[in-house]
Amino acid sequence: MLTDQLIPEGLGAASAPPERSLWRESPLARRIVLFNLLAILLLVAGVLYVDHASDSLSRQRGRALVTEAGLIAALVDPARLDESTAAPALGAPADALRELALLNGLQVFLFDANAELRLRLGPDDAPDGNPQALAARAARFARNGATARTEVLEVSGDAGARYLMSGAPISDGGEIRGHVVVASARGEIEALAQTDRRRTTKIVVIAVLVSLGLSLALASTIAIPLADLAAAAERGRDENAGNLRAARIRIPDLTDRQDEIGRLSGALSGLVSGLFERIARNEQFASDVSHEIKNPLASLRSAASALRVAKPDQARELIEVIEQDVSRLDRLVSDISNASRLDSEMVREQEAPFDLVDLCAKIGEHMEGLADERGIRLTRDVPPAPLVMHGLEGRLAQVLVNLVSNAVSFCGPGDSVSIVVRRLGNRAVIMVGDTGPGIPEDAIQKIFERFFSSRPAGEFGKNSGLGLAISRQIVEAHGGTIHAENITATVHDPGSAPMGARFVVSLPV
Ligand SMILES: Nc1ncnc2c1ncn2[C@@H]1O[C@H](COP(=O)(O)OP(=O)(O)OP(=O)(O)O)[C@@H](O)[C@H]1O
Ligand SMILES: [Mg+2]
Repeated sequence: MLTDQLIPEGLGAASAPPERSLWRESPLARRIVLFNLLAILLLVAGVLYVDHASDSLSRQRGRALVTEAGLIAALVDPARLDESTAAPALGAPADALRELALLNGLQVFLFDANAELRLRLGPDDAPDGNPQALAARAARFARNGATARTEVLEVSGDAGARYLMSGAPISDGGEIRGHVVVASARGEIEALAQTDRRRTTKIVVIAVLVSLGLSLALASTIAIPLADLAAAAERGRDENAGNLRAARIRIPDLTDRQDEIGRLSGALSGLVSGLFERIARNEQFASDVSHEIKNPLASLRSAASALRVAKPDQARELIEVIEQDVSRLDRLVSDISNASRLDSEMVREQEAPFDLVDLCAKIGEHMEGLADERGIRLTRDVPPAPLVMHGLEGRLAQVLVNLVSNAVSFCGPGDSVSIVVRRLGNRAVIMVGDTGPGIPEDAIQKIFERFFSSRPAGEFGKNSGLGLAISRQIVEAHGGTIHAENITATVHDPGSAPMGARFVVSLPV
């Protein structure tokens, strides 16, 4: 969905989402993917380093071989080693041992003190298919006394098969009566290491793929909407550059997203619509102004042309008309210039705390003279305690002066104008009421519009009809509201003539 702002037709097609490559178009997406991959690769490098630094599998296996040889040596009964088959020398645990040896793929050799092979346990077929060669190698191992040093040798069988070999002496009261030699095929260890490597590689590949997928998904939920927002803003900029007419800016509506991108989209739409509203207001203002200025100008022109042919006594009247028109124009132009500068001036002015009760007292005093002159009673009804609010005191004073001077100007001798201030919760309410003629029903909706004025004809030229429009602008800039109503005698008789008018301003405090 797209949010339309101001708006000639025909630009919509430009924003249909084109085919896009996330990787090529979005540096942000590339960065997200690269950073995530880098993190995974660092992790892998760390794991490999730790793996490498720890004992290699073959070293571990070598240590296990030494222990196994020692264990088996402890089980052998040295007294029975010399029997033709040394099987009984192992006693009852022989079967268990055989199983152990078989399970581990171990070749176990028992030698007597002369390094004569007495017993051999283990899988029948050695990996190199040459059990005799391995046995001979083990005998040499025993004969060299390597068993006593718990050495681990890496030896090669005849067919090139490699073994880890270790042994332990079989001793009887300190005297060496034989040797246990154990051999484990190196290939098994390598197979184990390979399985290990394969598993690690599989995990790394899966991790990289998952990370890649997740990064792309993440990148697409961040980079694509951001790119859309940026593209919309850029299109708006390009289309408006040098154009006299404001072009459409369509900000993608992503406000359903509960994240910063949703906020950004909402804020951009708000910003754009605010700006366009302001442009529209300015345009409306300019057109209202020219319309207002045209009336006195037309009147001036006809008076001037009538003057050419007028008789002397008519001429005086015409000159009076011309003077009125000029003063109306003068008043209009200064009012318009004040009103048009209002927004920018208010932005520059500093808000400060001030007491609303005190302000009303000052306004009352200021307006008393004018009211007295016209025989009007001006009353004030304010809270006893100060009512402090934050804002532009001078501008709110301007609002009150507008309201009170309107009220006074519509009242006659014997009438009264009242200023009432109350605090209602977190709002300050100011009511300016009068006992004048009230506002005509058909005008009540229009009085806040610029240049609306329903002054009697005799007052022509004195008022521009901008007072209430300016007042509303000031009040709204403070986050407040202003409305007008007629004071009626009774709700039971809606048609009865109003007893006066009341303007209610409500401001947050
Ligand atoms: N107290 C009031 N009683 C009756 N009508 C009022 C009252 N205040 C305002 N109005 C109506 O609202 C209109 C607009 O008021 P507004 O203050 O904007 O303009 P204005 O007073 O005619 O001109 P300006 O304020 O520029 O001198 C008035 O012309 C009048 O019709
Ligand atoms: Mg006024």
